[in-house]
Amino acid sequence: MPNLVAMLEILVAFSILCVAAVRSSDPQLFNVLSYGAIGDGAFGKAWDDLCGSTSNYVVLQIPNGKSFFLEPVNFKGPCKPSHLQVQIDGNLTAPTKPGDDNEGIQNWIQFVSLEGLVVNGSGSINGQGFACIGSLGHHESYATVEDVHVSSCTFIGTQNGARIKTWQGGSGYARNITFKDIILESVNRSIIIDQFYCPHKTCPSERMAVKISSVRFAGFYGTSLDRRAISLNCSQTIGCTNINLDNVNITAATPSEKPYASCINAHGMAYNTSPPVPCLIH
Ligand SMILES: *[C@@H]1O[C@H](CO)[C@@H](O)[C@H](O)[C@H]1NC(C)=O
Ligand SMILES: *[C@@H]1O[C@H](CO)[C@@H](O)[C@H](O)[C@H]1NC(C)=O
Ligand SMILES: *[C@@H]1O[C@H](CO)[C@@H](O)[C@H](O)[C@H]1NC(C)=O
Ligand SMILES: *[C@@H]1O[C@H](CO)[C@@H](O)[C@H](O)[C@H]1NC(C)=O
Ligand SMILES: *[C@@H]1O[C@H](CO)[C@@H](O)[C@H](O)[C@H]1NC(C)=O
Ligand SMILES: *[C@@H]1O[C@H](CO)[C@@H](O)[C@H](O)[C@H]1NC(C)=O
Repeated sequence: MPNLVAMLEILVAFSILCVAAVRSSDPQLFNVLSYGAIGDGAFGKAWDDLCGSTSNYVVLQIPNGKSFFLEPVNFKGPCKPSHLQVQIDGNLTAPTKPGDDNEGIQNWIQFVSLEGLVVNGSGSINGQGFACIGSLGHHESYATVEDVHVSSCTFIGTQNGARIKTWQGGSGYARNITFKDIILESVNRSIIIDQFYCPHKTCPSERMAVKISSVRFAGFYGTSLDRRAISLNCSQTIGCTNINLDNVNITAATPSEKPYASCINAHGMAYNTSPPVPCLIH
């Protein structure tokens, strides 16, 4: 299936690219526009090149002034470069119909087995009902995600805003993950950790889980469709540690409703956070 269904105005910004690559310490740039954009998996191809690059510092550029209609895409590691950056300056829009129980479809943009990833930019991510990011430890696999930073993104109408979701029965870890300066427009739920993810109800016992630790949600502003705006759902046996929220202000999309937070076995602190998160264990 093509990763990229359609795209507007293909050939721009090449001169900028050429000017950029001067010093050796500069990142190697992978602009999705250079990857044969229309309907042939440009994002996946660009990612494959980036991931296998011998440069230390690589950037996937999604340029501004454009909207990209993106089929579900899997940004999978491990990758060779130690510093990976996804610079989202354009608008990413999911296909209009979310799938039902199809896992590959529900997760629109997935990051798997990556270290040292920074996702930022001035663009927007419009999930049209899809979940955005997550999904580790599928089918008893060993998954690691570490040092991942998502900042300055706008999520519009997505199923979930900042979500870390791990499969029950998986193993490995997700740690040192930051979501910072995130604007939410009518997302279903804004902040989610789900350590028991099990869509098909035939998951192994929850004694195994991907460990989640050192996660920071900072500078969130916007609206949640679901009154349960914040949901930190960790395994009773494993739990999540060092989960921190600060400067979070999420209101309900329906003004008369009062948003709230819920947690299971989540350890950490919340500062200046609305709705308050009294369920965090200190
Ligand atoms: C990108 O999305 C923003 C916010 O929704 C919007 O203001 C802007 O016009 C969009 N740009 C393009 C090129 O579609
Ligand atoms: C994205 O992150 C890089 C590296 O941290 C930084 O240099 C750049 O200014 C950031 N860009 C935006 C738009 O936040
Ligand atoms: C967390 O990730 C950042 C960015 O990759 C890195 O600079 C920092 O050292 C990491 N912190 C820990 C405690 O590993
Ligand atoms: C939010 O997500 C939950 C669980 O996925 C779903 O049951 C509910 O209908 C969604 N709410 C909205 C307003 O989309
Ligand atoms: C949290 O986990 C419990 C136990 O598996 C489950 O019943 C509940 O639906 C989960 N809640 C959310 C919001 O995912
Ligand atoms: C949160 O945002 C709402 C809506 O913009 C605003 O009315 C409220 O004062 C803000 N609360 C805090 C604590 O900043």
